[in-house]
Amino acid sequence: MKATAKAPSNIALIKFWGKANEKLNLPANSSISVNLSNLYSITTVEFDPKLKKDIVIIDGSKEQKETLRTTKHLDVIRKLAGIKTHAKIASNNNFPKGSGLASSASGFAALTLATTTATGLKLSEKELTTIARLGSGSASRSIPDGFVKWEKGTNHQSSYAHSLFPANYWKIAILAIIISTDQKKTGSTEGHSTAPSSPFFKTRIQNIENKVKEVETAIRKKNFERLGNAIEQEALELHSIALTSTPPIIYWLPESIRIMRLCQKLRENGTSVYFTFDAGPQPVLFCLQKDSQKIAKAIKSEVKRTRIIQSLPSVGAKLIKNHLF
Ligand code: DP6
Repeated sequence: MKATAKAPSNIALIKFWGKANEKLNLPANSSISVNLSNLYSITTVEFDPKLKKDIVIIDGSKEQKETLRTTKHLDVIRKLAGIKTHAKIASNNNFPKGSGLASSASGFAALTLATTTATGLKLSEKELTTIARLGSGSASRSIPDGFVKWEKGTNHQSSYAHSLFPANYWKIAILAIIISTDQKKTGSTEGHSTAPSSPFFKTRIQNIENKVKEVETAIRKKNFERLGNAIEQEALELHSIALTSTPPIIYWLPESIRIMRLCQKLRENGTSVYFTFDAGPQPVLFCLQKDSQKIAKAIKSEVKRTRIIQSLPSVGAKLIKNHLF
């Protein structure tokens, strides 16, 4: 059977950084994210007994470094479904891969939903999130709707993601600013394994539950300043850990810092705008919809040749009828 799924990327408000168990992909801490309406992957999977091996086409090309990771994830699902059949997989992202815009999150969420459906497995949302997690941790958060929490858990079943608030709960604007389309040198998987070498990692883990609660409360109360301050502090903490790990990881570019300073300046002049970053140079800004055009203009005059992708909080992974092949 053939199935196609569309899954959003997500941006973490409380980051997943460091693993408690690499094999099961259990995180060192629980995390919270919001799904992004205009950054997504669409994936079609078809099992075909005539195939001698899997065919993986990502963004129109068979020569992608994600191919092995993709077929490994198929193996996990094949085992669960009790089949050995190979599949053809096509996946398209509507944004540049490997540049810190969480393509693995949307990619593995879409792959998990399309593949489990194509094998005929009937799984709950909770089970889907645990399987997506095995492909890429942050992918677990791209399955449920809206604002999502991934409970760190202690084993495969208890490390799952669930929706905290639906997509339409709070229509804030989220601007992903693409300042560079170069593939980053250090992927997040490598970053996770070096994180504990930072002298600040222990302190982070000791304080993280309070931070998780703070972000949950800020969203529940729709207190934009409170949320903004919490996410900026968290992004700076993630990068402080990366910078002080052995070997150190410098994800930012000069333009990343210029955008951070621009946010501070805009706030001094009365505009509510806050930044976050995942493991890459691209700033992601949170603002109110009424201010988004003004902010986009300010960004374009600060940093030339940027592409800005504006999103709203989005639903999670869904099956769609338009197959890619
Ligand atoms: C900085 O989920 O990409 O974006 O499980 O090894 O694939 P793997 O890691 P991944 O890590 C995401 C790191 C982050 C923060 C976050 O999304 O929570």
